[in-house]
Amino acid sequence: MLRLARLVLLLLPLLVLGQSSYDDRDQLVLAPPQSAAHGPRPSKSIAIVGAGSAGLAILKTLLDLPSDVREGWEIVLYDQRRDVGGLWLPDPPGQPLPRPPELPESPVYPLLHTNTPHPTMTYPHFTYPPLTPLFASHEYVQRYHYDYAAHYGLLPYVRLFHKVAAANWLGNAHGGKWDVEVHELNKEDPRGPPASTFRRSFDHLVVANGHNHYPHIPTWNGSEGWLANTPAGTPKREILHSIYYRWPQKYTNRTVVIVGAGASGRDAALQVGQVARVAYQSLTPRNEPTPGANVVPKPRIAYFTNTSVVFEDGTALDDVDSIILGTGYEFRIPFLSSPQSSVLDVDPHTPYNSTTAPTLISNLRYIFPLHRHIFSLAPRIPPTALSFVGLPVLVANCPSDIAQSLLIAHAIANASVLPSREEMLSELVAREAAVRKEGFDPYEIGHRLLASSETDHDYQDALVEYLKEVGALPQDGRKFVEPWRRETRGQSKLIGRAWNRVVKLGRENEWLEGVETEDQWAELMIRLARWQRSYEEEHGIPEEGFISYE
Ligand SMILES: Cc1cc2nc3c(=O)[nH]c(=O)nc-3n(C[C@H](O)[C@H](O)[C@H](O)COP(=O)(O)OP(=O)(O)OC[C@H]3O[C@@H](n4cnc5c(N)ncnc54)[C@H](O)[C@@H]3O)c2cc1C
Ligand SMILES: *[C@@H]1O[C@H](CO)[C@@H](O)[C@H](O)[C@H]1NC(C)=O
Ligand SMILES: *[C@@H]1O[C@H](CO)[C@@H](O)[C@H](O)[C@H]1NC(C)=O
Ligand SMILES: *[C@@H]1O[C@H](CO)[C@@H](O)[C@H](O)[C@H]1NC(C)=O
Ligand SMILES: *[C@@H]1O[C@H](CO)[C@@H](O)[C@H](O)[C@H]1NC(C)=O
Ligand SMILES: *[C@@H]1O[C@H](CO)[C@@H](O)[C@H](O)[C@H]1NC(C)=O
Repeated sequence: MLRLARLVLLLLPLLVLGQSSYDDRDQLVLAPPQSAAHGPRPSKSIAIVGAGSAGLAILKTLLDLPSDVREGWEIVLYDQRRDVGGLWLPDPPGQPLPRPPELPESPVYPLLHTNTPHPTMTYPHFTYPPLTPLFASHEYVQRYHYDYAAHYGLLPYVRLFHKVAAANWLGNAHGGKWDVEVHELNKEDPRGPPASTFRRSFDHLVVANGHNHYPHIPTWNGSEGWLANTPAGTPKREILHSIYYRWPQKYTNRTVVIVGAGASGRDAALQVGQVARVAYQSLTPRNEPTPGANVVPKPRIAYFTNTSVVFEDGTALDDVDSIILGTGYEFRIPFLSSPQSSVLDVDPHTPYNSTTAPTLISNLRYIFPLHRHIFSLAPRIPPTALSFVGLPVLVANCPSDIAQSLLIAHAIANASVLPSREEMLSELVAREAAVRKEGFDPYEIGHRLLASSETDHDYQDALVEYLKEVGALPQDGRKFVEPWRRETRGQSKLIGRAWNRVVKLGRENEWLEGVETEDQWAELMIRLARWQRSYEEEHGIPEEGFISYE
């Protein structure tokens, strides 16, 4: 009975909409497209959300399609922020850091450097400028994205200060339109009321909104009481997610617990460990304390009392001032979710799986059902109408984004490039089974490419090989992933230790001199790895601390 009721509810919008509403695009276009207002109607319209690594990748790849294929298409990229670059663009300078529950625009902090050498992070055949330090500070990465957009003529397609507020699919599994509500933000006060709002219809929606924006904040019993009971004469107690982390100096002479050992927890441990009175790092049994960080390892936090932080081994600390949560992020897409839209159901305890899901679902770690982490297999939406760029985690984003974008661009041009929905669903079920067979829960690891059956480079190669098999790309006998990327894979830490040694010796420019082409950057990394390996064979692996790069 319950199931039947649910089914009727699901079918209701289809019955009401029927055929007519999505066939008549003029009814849905409440504001004319800026570019095509007076010209002929576009033959296809595509909205991209996000101008970070992922959004720029799909924009460029669409523009790279042969001009006869994309003749008459209208492509618009919306980003709510003041420039391109996504999270690499810091919060506006000179403004106070927002306080919870308000979120900063970016998690970038002043001392952030890439944790992978920049040549491994590049879009194919577009290098960082000569003399860029190998582990570049975040400014270089934002600049790189801007340069890419400018170099390939992407900027005219980008609408900055435009926030996609809602996107609803009016149609069914075979056709329809997106009804997209856009807020044009007030440039002087982007957090205030929008300067204007409008609605547009689109045939295709490509979501590239990033997944480092909604902090995952665990809850512990007693934390409220602990926060409310700061002892007299000590700094006000706080529990803050790493998205709010900025300067380590804030923690001078404080007792700090850093939760987690991912990229954010690691950086906080290295930086805060330098200045804190004592810094503890709270870890799961699988984590290792950050090498070289001046921290005392602790197990997971169990609960709080009004006076103490109590850990799972029963030990308690009663002098903690600050807790930094390097606990990661949640996969959320507000403009596709309730109350703005019913496309994506967000439910950490969802009873559904990929075969039973009545809509797209995010359990906060995994968005499903998706074909190869890209195309929606939601029952009511055609797969090419809704796609995602940049969901995979633990990958170098830019090359991965391009591989995904190639498949999206070709599938938008010709939907027959994709297998049938049934075939894609059974491929997904097989993928989840393969991941499970390796001991991972696919609904837990989500888009983290951890399984050996789905490594980053193989995943990218498979996307492009598929396009060659179906004749969308020429058989050129080459892999998408360049041999040097495979060769340097997994060597970021080794190359990082080499670069630290170069920095300590003050010899950066000697190594960087004359390095300009993609091949020369690749060769530099390979030389550094060799240089460091032979050093470590003799001296052992150096204990790295916090390195203050210029
Ligand atoms: C602190 C930190 C350090 C990192 N360091 C590295 C590193 O060293 N090496 C590495 O390879 N990776 C690193 N990463 C991973 C990083 O996520 C990727 O490098 C990549 O840049 C992400 O790009 P993206 O385009 O997917 O998302 P984002 O960069 O987050 O871009 C998404 C864009 O979408 C926009 N947007 C979202 N919603 C809307 C909406 N409704 N309307 C309009 N616009 C919207 C946002 O404003 C944003 O500009 C790091 C991540 C973090 C958080
Ligand atoms: C939380 O703490 C309160 C008071 O100490 C206790 O009564 C309650 O059982 C605890 N809840 C959980 C889930 O541990
Ligand atoms: C904890 O502190 C709150 C006030 O912040 C107080 O109401 C409560 O009684 C305290 N609990 C204990 C066990 O002392
Ligand atoms: C550091 O903190 C302790 C305890 O809160 C305090 O007694 C001491 O004066 C502080 N030292 C400095 C240099 O601020
Ligand atoms: C679309 O793709 C299918 C399957 O790959 C192919 O057979 C067909 O020729 C393509 N159509 C066009 C117009 O390229
Ligand atoms: C999903 O759940 C259904 C019912 O619980 C089950 O029969 C099916 O095998 C599951 N599918 C996957 C892919 O786990």
